[in-house]
Amino acid sequence: MNESCFNGKVAVITGAGGTLCSVLARELARQGAKLALLGRTGAALESLAADIRQDGGTALPLVCDVLDAAAVERARETVALELGACQFLINGAGGNQADAITTVTEFSALELSPGKPAGTRGFFDLDLGRFDDVVRVNTLGTVIPCQIFGRDLARRGRGSILNFASMNSYRPLTRVPAYAMAKAGVVSFTQWLSVYLAPAGVRVNAVAPGFFVNERSRKILMTPDGGLSARGQNVLAHTPLNRFGEARELLGAACWLLDDTRAGFVTGVTLPVDGGFLASSGI
Ligand SMILES: NC(=O)c1ccc[n+]([C@@H]2O[C@H](COP(=O)([O-])OP(=O)(O)OC[C@H]3O[C@@H](n4cnc5c(N)ncnc54)[C@H](OP(=O)(O)O)[C@@H]3O)[C@@H](O)[C@H]2O)c1
Repeated sequence: MNESCFNGKVAVITGAGGTLCSVLARELARQGAKLALLGRTGAALESLAADIRQDGGTALPLVCDVLDAAAVERARETVALELGACQFLINGAGGNQADAITTVTEFSALELSPGKPAGTRGFFDLDLGRFDDVVRVNTLGTVIPCQIFGRDLARRGRGSILNFASMNSYRPLTRVPAYAMAKAGVVSFTQWLSVYLAPAGVRVNAVAPGFFVNERSRKILMTPDGGLSARGQNVLAHTPLNRFGEARELLGAACWLLDDTRAGFVTGVTLPVDGGFLASSGI
């Protein structure tokens, strides 16, 4: 008998085709959850859903931009019709954008001089449109699904929500101001919503992954030949376990936070899964 709390329950995962949430989706399916897989790229979702179904699981791929509230509402209606009401919501959609990152770690007078080296992008050069994109996808991209799917949870009076924070939620890393600002917001919103939804019996928590290589961060942390970039070396120098995380290493924390039977008194927390990054002073 499958005694998992996820067995037969509906879990909605945004950013399901991504590095971390595709692995979480497979694990929840293995534990018997019926999955709605949301993201913008249909092919990634279809392929994940096919794998899950091949292993005997249930998965419904739904192309949906989490910033489009009408599309998220349509997804909610489809999920309710095809799988049943959402009981677990995982807000994995998010991330950074190359154009919202500075190429330098601190200001130098060169940035404002005509002799600025080509390709240099300091804070004063940042395109505010790209800055806004990153803030929106990580903040409103979490808020909108919480508002739309959260109704199902609040109506039933149980279930839980898992958001994705970051090491940037605690202290901003150099070069990523929009992402850092947004992920600090995710922690605040997680706390806020946990208090708001407590009377409904709905718990809201977050994980804060340390450094897990994904398609985007690979370009920053690694060199083209697969070695470590200077930033990658710097990250590992501040990560006591001295390596990047593997997506499967998030599963324990994520499943535990979602599970009412094991973490029923845990709400409003953000749990770091970071190889010791936050504990290290780096000295
Ligand atoms: N990897 C890390 O080291 C790390 C560290 C800290 C926090 N995180 C956070 O953990 C979460 C997952 O990260 P990851 O490494 O798995 O990143 P990832 O591989 O880039 O996955 C993110 C997923 O979000 C989807 N997405 C982006 N914008 C979307 C939108 N507007 N609507 C719907 N889906 C959208 C993307 O798919 P489409 O483009 O197809 O929509 C992608 O599948 C993110 O919130 C990230 O910020 C990651």
